[in-house]
Amino acid sequence: MYSLPKNVTLIEVGPRDGLQNEKNSIPTDQKLAFIHSLQQAGIHEMEVTSFVSPKWVPQMSDSKEIMARVSKQGRQIVLTPNARGVENALKAGADSMAVFVGVSDTFNQHNINRSTTESVETLRPIVHQLKIDQRFVRACISTAFHCPYEGFIPLEQTLALCKKFVDMGVDELSVADTDGMANPLASYTLFRELKKQFPNILITAHFHDTRKLGLANIYASLQAGVDRFDTSAGGLGGCPFAPGATGNVATEDALYLLQSINVETGIDLDKICAAVDEVAPYLSRPIETAMYNLYKRRSK
Ligand code: HMG
Ligand code: MG
Repeated sequence: MYSLPKNVTLIEVGPRDGLQNEKNSIPTDQKLAFIHSLQQAGIHEMEVTSFVSPKWVPQMSDSKEIMARVSKQGRQIVLTPNARGVENALKAGADSMAVFVGVSDTFNQHNINRSTTESVETLRPIVHQLKIDQRFVRACISTAFHCPYEGFIPLEQTLALCKKFVDMGVDELSVADTDGMANPLASYTLFRELKKQFPNILITAHFHDTRKLGLANIYASLQAGVDRFDTSAGGLGGCPFAPGATGNVATEDALYLLQSINVETGIDLDKICAAVDEVAPYLSRPIETAMYNLYKRRSK
């Protein structure tokens, strides 16, 4: 019989992964209100914005202001693709960085305009310096299971890329099912291997819920010993450079799953739904997650 972790950390990615793919331009005040409501719901780690090219992702062009005004509760992580991004992020007061790279070369080319190898070589000295300066570094590994351009990715290729970042000394690997093609068996297999090969760093699972297998994948990863998951309030988002990908597993739905099997997160489900409710009027699409729908029905 397997045993599940007793405590799980949910890393909220709604303000970054969630909003980056949103068509409407969301006012900065509204983004900050969303972030602060999520913090008040008990979120301690959050991707709050990204320092990427505003030409590539216009929604994230207010990252400097977000960092200037965000409440410094818990860990605020920002995404940085290159030296320019890290420099801007540090100037803006960020001290926890997420670097990101795709296992698939074609995806990486679409996302960062570089091959995977070029990205790794660009990031190596950057991560090295960040670790000398004692910053928290998370490596987001995209297309760990499947690429929207290249198809299924061999397990060994994902493990080999993860190892490069572990060898650089990152604190965390966030391993992503970018286009929602993972299944519980593949999730269990990859995460069990990651936990076995890299026992000394944080391992986080990042599932997009394109085919509604996100919760099943979370459960399978719990069985493999994973106790950290990236989730997005309202199930928002997706990567603009991964065609067909939808949002992450919704924080509120993941919370319900975890509560129902007595796994502690320290996060208040109703307060997450209230945070979603505040941002919902600004979005181009209705929010349809199970727990948010129930919350709306109850509050009528
Ligand atoms: P490029 O066009 O090759 O950049 O884009 P470049 O180095 O040739 O520079 C071109 C111009 O951009 C220059 O300005 C640079 O200064 C500027 P110009 O001289 O023309 O005025 N520039 C920047 N500006 C602001 N911030 C920067 C920056 N870097 C260069 N950091 C680049 C390369 C990486 C910049 C571009 O491809 C980019 O910004 N890509 C980001 C894509 C992105 O944000 N994707 C979504 C996040 S990843 C994701 O969602 C996946 C994840 O959730 C996990 C999963 O689900 O898979 C993490
Ligand atoms: Mg993502």
